[in-house]
Amino acid sequence: MYAAFRSIGAYVPEKILSNSDLETMVDTTDEWITKRTGIKERHIAAIDETTSDMGVNAAEKAIARSGLSKDEIDMLICATISPDYFCMPSTATIIATKLGLGKVMAFDISAACTGFVYALNIAKAFVESGMKKNVLIVGAERLSAITDYSDRGTCILFGDGAGAAIISATEDKSKAIIDVHTGSDGSFADLLMTPNGGSGSIHDELDREAAGCFMQMKGNETFKVAVRTLTNDVVEILEQNNISSSAIKHFVPHQANYRIIKAVGDALALHEDQVVLTVEKYGNTSGASIPMAINDIYESGRLQEGDLMLLDAFGGGLTWGSALVPFAGKNI
Ligand code: ACO
Repeated sequence: MYAAFRSIGAYVPEKILSNSDLETMVDTTDEWITKRTGIKERHIAAIDETTSDMGVNAAEKAIARSGLSKDEIDMLICATISPDYFCMPSTATIIATKLGLGKVMAFDISAACTGFVYALNIAKAFVESGMKKNVLIVGAERLSAITDYSDRGTCILFGDGAGAAIISATEDKSKAIIDVHTGSDGSFADLLMTPNGGSGSIHDELDREAAGCFMQMKGNETFKVAVRTLTNDVVEILEQNNISSSAIKHFVPHQANYRIIKAVGDALALHEDQVVLTVEKYGNTSGASIPMAINDIYESGRLQEGDLMLLDAFGGGLTWGSALVPFAGKNI
């Protein structure tokens, strides 16, 4: 049995936070943000819109496009670092119930911006083992809830949104996900973290202050490790599978920073039309960024059945992952 990438969906909240809006909030300029990151705007969830709400909207689209009925979905994984509730219940169980999926196995994973690639790898393993037939994977983030809007080093980067995909069993090897690589290195944990609120922090009066529950990032150090790790990772997965970069129809990297994407694309000698870019309009949506980008090329008609995608992600943990994925479409 093989695992195929069957359908995609995404949801973007309505409200836009532009670079000029941020100019009124912190000491920054549209020029600096555009030049250093490529981001022009990001979307922000409404006050009463939760991570699970956004995940549900993305999942409804992925389900409708899969041709499956909801009772054929037998597992749900949600990748998020901005869950509705920090400890329990998981956002996945809430999404499953709001979707009306019945009593499926549902759980969250925490791998920051690599979350969707980790979820893809888990789904692939469950499907290939024969334990599950149709796994719904969701990357959903309300990063605005954990962003410090007085810290210009981070608040310019992040946005909200969700993406979802269905991974289904197939006997047709030509439609199968070719390979997924995932890794981590906790010795870099301090590069990107929300220091307080977990069981690792001391729960005195100070720790409860909101500031410690916001994301903190050593941006410049993260940038350098990101370029190195992302490049090594994609070179390795292509070499190990004997696939040349010219065979990649769509390179879909995590959308953190245009300069990081450009550096990795150049290292692979990719043409501009092979590289999928959404960072300009969505910013960094962490675990949602890759499925939101895949949905963009799907909705614009660029993604066709059989197209080979190369996914590449990097994030807090540190974590990283890459995947070689043909888009199977619903006729599997
Ligand atoms: N506006 C104006 N100036 C700024 C801003 C801002 N928004 N932010 C920082 N600066 C200043 C700094 O204070 C510094 O000033 P100084 O030279 O006087 O000290 C100067 O700009 C340069 O700062 P750097 O941090 O060196 O800027 P850099 O070019 O590295 O860009 C950025 C910062 C955009 C954050 C970049 O480092 C980056 O994208 N890092 C990687 C992010 C990433 O990939 N994260 C992983 C995934 S996220 C996740 O997992 C949740």
